Amino acid sequence: MCGIVGIIGSSPVASNLVDALKRLEYRGYDSAGIATIHDGHLMRRRAKGKLRFLENKLKDEPLEGLIGIGHTRWATHGKPTEVNAHPHVSEGVSVVHNGIIENFKTLRVALEKDGYVFETETDTEVIAHLIASGLKAGQSPEDAVFFTLSQLEGAFALAVIFEGHEDLMIGARRGSPFAIGYGDEDEPGMYVGSDAIALAPFTNRVAYLEDGDFVVLNGTGAKIYDQDRVEVQRKISTSMAQTLVVDKGNHRHFMMKEIHEQPDVISRTLSHYIDLASERVDFSALDLDFKSLPRLTVTACGTAFYAGLVGKYLIEKWGGLPVDVDIASEFRYREPLMAEGGAALFISQSGETADSLASLKYCKAKNQKILSIVNVSESSIARESDEVLPTLAGPEIGVASTKAFTCQLTVLAALAIHIGKSRGVIDEALEVKLVRSLVEVPRLISELLTEEKRIEEISHSLSQARDVLYLGRGTSFPIALEGALKLKEISYIHAEAYAAGELKHGPIALIDENMPVIVVAPEDELFDKTVSNMQEVAARGGKIIFISDAEAERAGCEIVDQIKMPKCHPFVAPLLLAIPVQLLAYYTAVHMGTDVDQPRNLAKSVTVE
Ligand code: F6R
Repeated sequence: MCGIVGIIGSSPVASNLVDALKRLEYRGYDSAGIATIHDGHLMRRRAKGKLRFLENKLKDEPLEGLIGIGHTRWATHGKPTEVNAHPHVSEGVSVVHNGIIENFKTLRVALEKDGYVFETETDTEVIAHLIASGLKAGQSPEDAVFFTLSQLEGAFALAVIFEGHEDLMIGARRGSPFAIGYGDEDEPGMYVGSDAIALAPFTNRVAYLEDGDFVVLNGTGAKIYDQDRVEVQRKISTSMAQTLVVDKGNHRHFMMKEIHEQPDVISRTLSHYIDLASERVDFSALDLDFKSLPRLTVTACGTAFYAGLVGKYLIEKWGGLPVDVDIASEFRYREPLMAEGGAALFISQSGETADSLASLKYCKAKNQKILSIVNVSESSIARESDEVLPTLAGPEIGVASTKAFTCQLTVLAALAIHIGKSRGVIDEALEVKLVRSLVEVPRLISELLTEEKRIEEISHSLSQARDVLYLGRGTSFPIALEGALKLKEISYIHAEAYAAGELKHGPIALIDENMPVIVVAPEDELFDKTVSNMQEVAARGGKIIFISDAEAERAGCEIVDQIKMPKCHPFVAPLLLAIPVQLLAYYTAVHMGTDVDQPRNLAKSVTVE
């Protein structure tokens, strides 16, 4: 999703702005631009498409200046064209913005009546014109921004610079994340950005604006104000972003690197929740009495939602606690009834997903205890939670989530054991058995990754398909959903997943000899039922790709291919089954030549509704 950077430096900022934008590329974008002020003049360069096009422009027409803002745009209002690319300008005011101004149409009509001519189709341009009109009316830059903010509805973050002011930048946050970086004596300067990763090359001293804050920066410091314009202090902490490695290593794509990191990051996550010596789970840092908890409400989006669905199966079956799982974009709008004394769990890789964050606020207002499973410890969701259960996956750069998903499953599995213990449904012997099964997972995934070549071959046939169907039962149903989502996102092949038993209620009409059907069927208590559904597919000519630890003969029907899984306890099967569906999607996309790490139209961190 859109990325914002801003720098007031002691040397020309243009190339640093582009470097910071490169670190935000992973969020997904379709155009980019920067603006600087030099010798009293505001100048900007923008380009449609990848940052290299902006860099080419800057080579031909460089920008000077010690102050500047930059932006990667993920189109919401208006096509991804150069004209719609940020920064936007109005009479010497330049703005970059992330989020959506929901009332922009009303504001635009009013501004047009006042004679403002709009160049773009964006919602952002109203911000530039509103600030400019304030300045024209004699307001100071701070007053003009503050007054403009009071007129905006929606969730957003923005940064503004002003022609004639080479030591002034104003930023604001309402909903979307906004970090401030503080330079030091060796490298004086002030920085703003959508996240600490963008600022990592310049500084690790970072503060985060809270919702409603706005900040006035010069080259040596920042004054932060809350929504009532009372000056406030926001803690400056040392960001870990500088220590995080964000390159592809020897891999062709971040996604492949991240798939291969899974044994390591799952181990790391496990060691946070498991005492390996005693083979017991350790949630001593979590202050929540699960014994008396009436129910747990889980809310998330996309892949994280599917992790939540797996979590429901695990926590209800092994933990004995009722669980509701909802898509965050629907959750709060149906005004759900929340149990008195209940707890709400939010699952999010980025910790910034707008719908999840808004649902969290809804649950907070309903007096729920707020738990989160997040990968970015400095994120908004982490900061708004009473209790944070981190996934230790490291930065996930590929837009399609892989290692964050399996780390979420790892935390949920460990949590299910803890809940089962607290509620007296898991005794010591069972705890040790389940913990052992979890501890085996990294090794089993490493083994599975040696089967990559075989999965690559199978994916060649998938790349010919127009539609692909995924089937699964129990925890394999959310894995089927995740497999279909991965394939859609990065290969653009239409894919759908169904609970295998649901097939006969409609989707079976789709089956013919052109339809690949991926059946996720571990040899568990539901295996025979899935096999019956698979036979229904085979009888209608569907091309079955069988993902199972069972021998092929057990399928009892013709299968085109099998991805043979290692044997494991059914409790951890979803963690392993996630791997072949990720690899199938990856190799299909590579075969089709799509942009695997930054698929079209997608954003990594979805900070708009
Ligand atoms: C799919 C994917 C998305 C995210 C969703 C939630 O591969 O990555 O579906 O899972 O946008 O994002 P987070 O987890 O950051 O809240």
